Amino acid sequence: MASSNAPEIVMTGPLMAYAADQLKERFVVHELWKAADRDALLREIADRVRGVAAGGGHNRVDAALFDALPKLEIVASFGVGYDHVDAAEAGRRGLIVTNTPDVLTDEVADLAIGLLLATVRQLPQVDRYLREGKWLKGAYPLTTSLRKRSVGIVGLGRIGKAVAHRLEAFGLPVAYHGRSRQADVAYRYYPSLIDMAADVDTLISVAPGGASTHHIINAEVLKALGPNGILVNVGRGTVVDEAALIKALQDKTILSAGLDVFEDEPRVPADLIAMDHVVLLPHVGSASVHTREQMGQLLVDNLVSWFEGKGPKTPVPETPVRDR
Ligand code: NAP
Ligand code: 8YV
Repeated sequence: MASSNAPEIVMTGPLMAYAADQLKERFVVHELWKAADRDALLREIADRVRGVAAGGGHNRVDAALFDALPKLEIVASFGVGYDHVDAAEAGRRGLIVTNTPDVLTDEVADLAIGLLLATVRQLPQVDRYLREGKWLKGAYPLTTSLRKRSVGIVGLGRIGKAVAHRLEAFGLPVAYHGRSRQADVAYRYYPSLIDMAADVDTLISVAPGGASTHHIINAEVLKALGPNGILVNVGRGTVVDEAALIKALQDKTILSAGLDVFEDEPRVPADLIAMDHVVLLPHVGSASVHTREQMGQLLVDNLVSWFEGKGPKTPVPETPVRDR
């Protein structure tokens, strides 16, 4: 346990024990989600708390929490995506936000390729077929193929590039869409997502959430992708208009989808669950023991480094370090 004069922090939600135990060694930790009266706890600790450790996902970290914690200096978030944190507002207030980039890149890229293969070759469906004893009555129908596919990546960042690299090894042509052309890659760049969708038959989205990507994969993009089209999404569910996707899958505007992320997690629309020609995963892109421990360690290291006066290790671009 930390000494009583250690810096005080708030955990907004549960974190893996690997990280939570280290935090409790170093800091006086207040577990906000366990409080019977959250507001009363916040009032009681307001003048002492200088840090927040935020689990990814559902607990918003925004102006309301910043207002409640006037001595706050840093928010360390678990995960590379930080759309649950109002980083722009944190930046305006001179707060630091950190995330956990790089340590999960290869794991998520591996999962994206696995999900692509599972979707194209129908691996979960084929597994079910065998378990249900159907092989005894005949072979599984032939599937579509990865051969001759061409892939468009939406969001060619750290993970997108690791996916592209793997696709090159599969011998598949790769294009990408983002807000800007990247000088260090030779892949074809499309400033227009709809133009890219029209030219490829496989879209892999690795774009972050937030206002600028909300529903950019919409009915028009899916129509452009066409009847042989496959959508894989390992970025954020909000990037895809889920209602439009369901319709496109139902009326065969596109062929299939492999989804690791959804608009309203952990709730997944019954219409998607009812379809046998999609592959659905419960947001497991980074979910190996190895990688989650690396992410947890980086969250802890950011807080420790900050409170030792050495600055944050991985601040997000909206909250650059300034002299304090
Ligand atoms: P990154 O390096 O920041 O890459 C993000 C990419 O998205 C950049 O290339 C950026 O390019 C592009 N982008 C940003 N805004 C865009 C917009 N409005 N339209 C089109 N493209 C846009 O991040 P990363 O480390 O690769 O992670 C990417 C995302 O993956 C995370 O934010 C998270 O949401 C998701 N993720 C999911 C899992 C999972 O478990 N499924 C795990 C880890 C991460 P431009 O700036 O040129 O637009
Ligand atoms: C995490 C993720 O599982 O890093 C991200 O952006 O989506 C995943 O690695 C998530 O943030 C933790 O809930």
